[in-house]
Amino acid sequence: MPELEGKVGIVTGAGHGMGSAHALALAREGASVALVDICKDQQEVPVPGATETGLGKVVEDITALGGRALAITCDVSKAAQVEAMAKSVMDEFGRIDILVNNAGVCTFAPFWEISEEQWDVTVDVNLKGTWLCAKYVVPHMIARNWGRIVNIGSIDGRNPEPLHAHYCASKGGVHNMTLAMAREVGAFNITVNCIAPGGVMTPMFQWTGEAFGAMSGGKPEDFYDYFNRTKTIMNRQVDPEDVANAMLWLVREESWTLTGQVFYVDGGLKGHGTPWD
Ligand SMILES: NC(=O)c1ccc[n+]([C@@H]2O[C@H](COP(=O)([O-])OP(=O)(O)OC[C@H]3O[C@@H](n4cnc5c(N)ncnc54)[C@H](O)[C@@H]3O)[C@@H](O)[C@H]2O)c1
Repeated sequence: MPELEGKVGIVTGAGHGMGSAHALALAREGASVALVDICKDQQEVPVPGATETGLGKVVEDITALGGRALAITCDVSKAAQVEAMAKSVMDEFGRIDILVNNAGVCTFAPFWEISEEQWDVTVDVNLKGTWLCAKYVVPHMIARNWGRIVNIGSIDGRNPEPLHAHYCASKGGVHNMTLAMAREVGAFNITVNCIAPGGVMTPMFQWTGEAFGAMSGGKPEDFYDYFNRTKTIMNRQVDPEDVANAMLWLVREESWTLTGQVFYVDGGLKGHGTPWD
């Protein structure tokens, strides 16, 4: 029997990139999955990452696997929408066991040129959105005395790169908040962990390469090369499915010993404060 048969998971930012890989991974293990993403036209301040939702395709893929999927349009930075999202999942599936807080946005500028809007959107989606989703979901986990929350941070939460101070601040906040949350819900048999990816080839990563190239006068390839396989001790590029595998490991029943941790899923990225630098 698939390991997560009967369980219900929510994945935010499920329309693209790593989010769709997380959703498919949960479905392959037998979980029913609520796919949460924003539509471009809902975004008050247009930012890369908030693209037209690709949820329909992910629903099709999960249905083709024989799984159950529910697509929900929701801006994770808006409390009323997140509360309604959690209610929709309960109405459809009757329980929530797993939350993967994956939705995120990223823009680039020197910190003295970051606009207030850019700051607010980045911190609101990446940090506040992670808190809001956990806030409205965790009561349903507490009610069943079981839960797994996986927050997606970033290598930038530990080793900030230049030109996105707002993003680095938001991800550092996600890492630290993960530890605080874990301490509060352990008594309810709920674990809270953070996965901090390195460079993973997704729409966000591609856009990042283009932005860096435009700002530095270099080529996007130079940026990709910075994170590519020759820069990891495993000599491999990390794919969305690799990050999803790490997520699956954390949501298993047997993984109850793992909580309040930040796991760097980066193939051993060199130059980021790792012991082998
Ligand atoms: N790609 C990388 O190299 C990398 C590295 C480290 C961390 N991360 C983090 O991993 C996560 C996934 O990134 P990705 O590379 O797959 O990005 P992506 O841009 O490909 O996907 C992000 C998804 O989040 C959605 N989204 C944006 N704003 C939203 C909002 N307000 N409400 C709901 N959904 C919203 C987007 O529509 C998109 O589907 C993000 O949190 C990102 O910060 C990515």
